[in-house]
Amino acid sequence: MKGVVLAGGTGSRLFPLTKITNKHLLPIYDRPMIYYPIQTLVDAGIRDILIVTGGRNSGDFLRLLANGKQFGLKHINYTYQEGEGGIADALALAEHFADGHKICVVLGDNIIERDIREAAERFRRQPAGAHLLLKKVPDAERFGVAELAGDRIVSIEEKPQHPKSNYAVTGIYMYDATVFDKIRTLVPSGRGELEITDVNNAYIGEGTITCSILEGWWTDAGTFDSLLRAANLVAALRKQPGAEGARA
Ligand code: G1P
Repeated sequence: MKGVVLAGGTGSRLFPLTKITNKHLLPIYDRPMIYYPIQTLVDAGIRDILIVTGGRNSGDFLRLLANGKQFGLKHINYTYQEGEGGIADALALAEHFADGHKICVVLGDNIIERDIREAAERFRRQPAGAHLLLKKVPDAERFGVAELAGDRIVSIEEKPQHPKSNYAVTGIYMYDATVFDKIRTLVPSGRGELEITDVNNAYIGEGTITCSILEGWWTDAGTFDSLLRAANLVAALRKQPGAEGARA
């Protein structure tokens, strides 16, 4: 399985912090934000990684990450998203890189306490389809929300006013190669973007989606409050006994 980190967008919810740099280069405690999703992939045994960037500061990613020595990698792939087409539009750029392989996609502002090794192993064994990681949250209306029947996802709603459950769809998605055909069928949402939730609903329609619950804490970092929360969570993790071994 290959890995894709989506790190484009304008970061408008963090303006003016993002006026002169990309959101994913902002600090989360002691590391730039983009380090965390890359580490998530590396910890899941994924070594072939594509970074999708965009905007005016894309060159800074190359200066920061180079060939990924920091993560024990020999090489990192980069591509550039023109404009503001949304998460699924950014992912479409990974088709050539994926080259028929399964992919694990991590949103560049998603930070986790532990690892996704088990879910990745499970998806490697899954013949086709998609696998999502869910997390119970108190503020589900901020996210894609999964409606569940037992341990099966029945539907996903993007930022619903009245969430049907407390289970947010985290920004960690595992897909087979048909994801790119599904993206080609999408139409822009009300906010003018190709939504990843529509991709996931296409897999639900096909009956090929599975899910698991993410262990440990999870946060995004795309708003002032979640950026602060992410920094505090990582700071606390670093101060735990035996923190050298902590993954984030
Ligand atoms: C995006 C997705 C949403 C998901 C979230 C996870 O939201 O659209 O479904 O739950 O990431 O971080 P955004 O951060 O673009 O508002």
